Amino acid sequence: MRAPSTGLLAGGVIALTAIVLVLVGAPHDRPSPPPRAPSATGVPASSVGARGVRLTSTAIELPADEAIFPEGPRSDLVNANCTACHSASMALDQPRLSAEQWRATVTKMREVYKAPVRAADVDAIVQYLVGMPGQSGGAPSGSAQDPAPNVPPSRS
Ligand code: HEC
Repeated sequence: MRAPSTGLLAGGVIALTAIVLVLVGAPHDRPSPPPRAPSATGVPASSVGARGVRLTSTAIELPADEAIFPEGPRSDLVNANCTACHSASMALDQPRLSAEQWRATVTKMREVYKAPVRAADVDAIVQYLVGMPGQSGGAPSGSAQDPAPNVPPSRS
């Protein structure tokens, strides 16, 4: 038996495709998905469901902490370098620390968390931190929160 010609094969494929398309039907013949229930606020529904699974979105309030470092010598430098990832409260809420402990913290921010703090600015930043409200006056009373500041926290 002779192999069917390319033209015959192509014709077959086209005919088959046409039959499938007719069977599937035009897009407007298919049932459209049920409309989503509009929410009270007019924004898209906060809840969608399909096949027994329902996803509901909720709004949560996160504490807004936008504390910055109080005005003082070099406070601009510290605000520029130390408030990108967390607010100033992170430092302001620390117990009284020694200059060495503050230096270790700044070093950890730079080396572990990759804070883009210039090495040349570290001394000035440490000076501000040691003298900022809550820190100045009296001997250091606290211990550094992290005894090994150059070791990344474990992720267990
Ligand atoms: C690149 C992001 C980033 C920058 C910039 C940054 N920090 Fe942090 N800082 C962190 C992260 C991450 C933590 C850990 C937060 C936690 O444990 O919940 C942290 C924690 C702290 C803590 C809590 C004590 C500790 O050792 O974890 C202090 C104090 C602190 N930062 C001070 C500073 C100071 C001062 C600067 C400016 C020199 C600074 N941070 C800049 C990311 C940053």
